[in-house]
Amino acid sequence: MVLNGKHIFLGVTGGIAAYKCVELLRFFKKAGADVVVAMTRSAARFMGPTTFEVLSENPVLLDLWEGPGSGVSHIEVASKSDLAVIAPATANCIGKLAHGIADDALTTTMLAMTCPVLICPSMNTDMYQNIRVQKNLDLLEETGIHILDPDSGALACKTTGAGRLPDPWFIFDRACALFYKNDLKGKTVLVSAGPTVESIDPVRFISNHSSGKMGYAIAGAAEKRGANVVLVSGPVSLDPPVGVTCVSVGSCDQMYDAMFDHLDQADIIVKVAAVGDFKPVTVQGHKIKKTGDQSHMTLDLTQNKDILKAIGLKKRKDQYLVGFAAETRDLETYALGKMEKKQLDMIAANIVGKSGSGFKADTNKVKLFTRDGQVADLPLMTKEKVAHAILDAVGQAIS
Ligand code: CTP
Repeated sequence: MVLNGKHIFLGVTGGIAAYKCVELLRFFKKAGADVVVAMTRSAARFMGPTTFEVLSENPVLLDLWEGPGSGVSHIEVASKSDLAVIAPATANCIGKLAHGIADDALTTTMLAMTCPVLICPSMNTDMYQNIRVQKNLDLLEETGIHILDPDSGALACKTTGAGRLPDPWFIFDRACALFYKNDLKGKTVLVSAGPTVESIDPVRFISNHSSGKMGYAIAGAAEKRGANVVLVSGPVSLDPPVGVTCVSVGSCDQMYDAMFDHLDQADIIVKVAAVGDFKPVTVQGHKIKKTGDQSHMTLDLTQNKDILKAIGLKKRKDQYLVGFAAETRDLETYALGKMEKKQLDMIAANIVGKSGSGFKADTNKVKLFTRDGQVADLPLMTKEKVAHAILDAVGQAIS
């Protein structure tokens, strides 16, 4: 969402990983960005410029003097750009950028660039670790340019080590992160997400329909805003957001322990998880069998710990606690009651069971209440947007 309408300059230099940038370009385009690609002559030996031209729907800048992109003003491209990404960035290109050398369309455009720049080095390990390359990267970083560390693994030169271009999705994610305000830098945000599961016997459990999407959106949004994020998650089928420390748990007791393990370091705690309120009194060691013509059975349940309430009682004054309330009716009354009972600073209340809102949807409709009486009725929007709106409100409250 953050790239919609943005102008991105994608510089592709001559490394074998140039092919990965086709996918990167597609991610940018899918996110609604306008992309201008520049390629070095060596890059064009690895990948045909036509592929980038067709997918970007813009001429590719290859040569300032001749060819299809030569009529494009590199100054205009640079001044229009909101972000420049160089991927893969060869040692040669890194050296030129570090020292202000402009001897082709890509480096000349980069010299006129005033927007944020993300450089993704990719090369043989010995080249990458070469002191000159490292010094050039330091030099670029000192001037505010963002460097994405390469991955380690098998390289095209048949060696193994640092130098692989990260996955295009990861580069895309880090590029998006540069568009968010860094208002949570230095803060630790502890988030709980997903359902809990309570075993009945070795093959059965009690759980709920929580998908974890809302909690994962909050964890991802907080990370993009510069926070150090710990995500305590029940079982979900989502990948943890990039850069987040994920602690996987099953039962309410496990979630309780994991939350308390990380509570001390947390500045902001957002408890989104749909915690099961009850668990079986005893977990059977063997699979429960039907006996005779048994037509029904009774399961003895006992109440689980209320994690949020326990945190509310224990938290320090300098910690900000946000709870969620999933309701099917009387939203405000129940939400305010929970805020009081659990000693919360803020509660995000939503109606479950309505279309477009609740557990499995990608969107949510949330009403925020703060302890000091503020109310914000957010419109139906993506869970990512809801996450940022909640963090905006938290940011305002703690500033
Ligand atoms: N919560 C918790 N531990 C529990 C139950 C709930 O930490 N055992 C937290 C949830 O993560 C959420 C908030 O409390 O942030 C409210 O959860 P919700 O399920 O809406 O309400 P409950 O407190 O369980 O109350 P009720 O089931 O009566 O609505």
